[in-house]
Amino acid sequence: MLIPGEVSLDYNDSLAVLSKPELIARLRGKDGLICHIVSSIDDEVLAAAPTVKVVANVAVGYNNIDVAAAHRRGVVVTNTPDVLTETTADFAWALLMATARRVVEADRFARSGQWHRWQWDLLWGADVYGKTLGLVGFGRIGRAVARRALGFNMRVLYQDSVRADAAVERELSVSRQELEAVLREADFVSLHTPFLPETRHLMNERTLRLMKKSAILVNASRGPVVDEAALVRALQEGWIAGAGLDVFEEEPKIHPGLIPLTNVVLAPHIASASSDTRVAMATLAVRNCLAVLDGKPPLTPVR
Ligand code: GLV
Repeated sequence: MLIPGEVSLDYNDSLAVLSKPELIARLRGKDGLICHIVSSIDDEVLAAAPTVKVVANVAVGYNNIDVAAAHRRGVVVTNTPDVLTETTADFAWALLMATARRVVEADRFARSGQWHRWQWDLLWGADVYGKTLGLVGFGRIGRAVARRALGFNMRVLYQDSVRADAAVERELSVSRQELEAVLREADFVSLHTPFLPETRHLMNERTLRLMKKSAILVNASRGPVVDEAALVRALQEGWIAGAGLDVFEEEPKIHPGLIPLTNVVLAPHIASASSDTRVAMATLAVRNCLAVLDGKPPLTPVR
């Protein structure tokens, strides 16, 4: 059994992301790694760190890790599902509501000194209540977003390669459709799919053009699921009405075409960033790491 005092820790408390050579040097002789999504743990890193037995990602997504390479080398990979589900779903809703009701524009306007009188036609937005919500990806977070939609009396359509149990579909009042149908019918499309080779640029010129001109796209999954250049054109040219984005193709870079647009709400990848949830994520990652080093099964392995 591991005695906590016996664990020696090399903690990178700088905000700078370690370069690959720095990461490899710091991993020398280490048994485990607890890391964030900004660290790319590829086969080269794993090969250079043969003492590492576990890579514990402090995130539910793990596209920063070459899981197949890790498994080939006998390295356990873990992530932090469940603990961030509700917080991430809350934030997808925050983006949806902020974009629909132009909250960021309203805030800027209210602060700007330009508000001189109540104005009938000021900052009209889109209704959410009673509209159609399309979910692309219907895992834990997609379902938590759907549960919130019950309170908004929405019709909810989802696309996922796996059909949910009939009981789940009934409880959440959702129906599974092909992607094209979801995009054509939804007033709001929220992405909750992992980033995989097959979901890269799932939202591209063709699929964005399928959406209603009045529709809003929300992305709190992974940036590369959306072709950002195509999205910029969609927003500039009115193929869709707006977007709420927490993630970007090349974080922390944001496509310069998005910056001046008023019909987009931008956030710096903070969907799981509530104090309680970030502590829960870190705690789960530490528990995963210590379990493996103690010869026990990890709590939340990536398979
Ligand atoms: C954050 O992006 C996560 O995957 O947890």
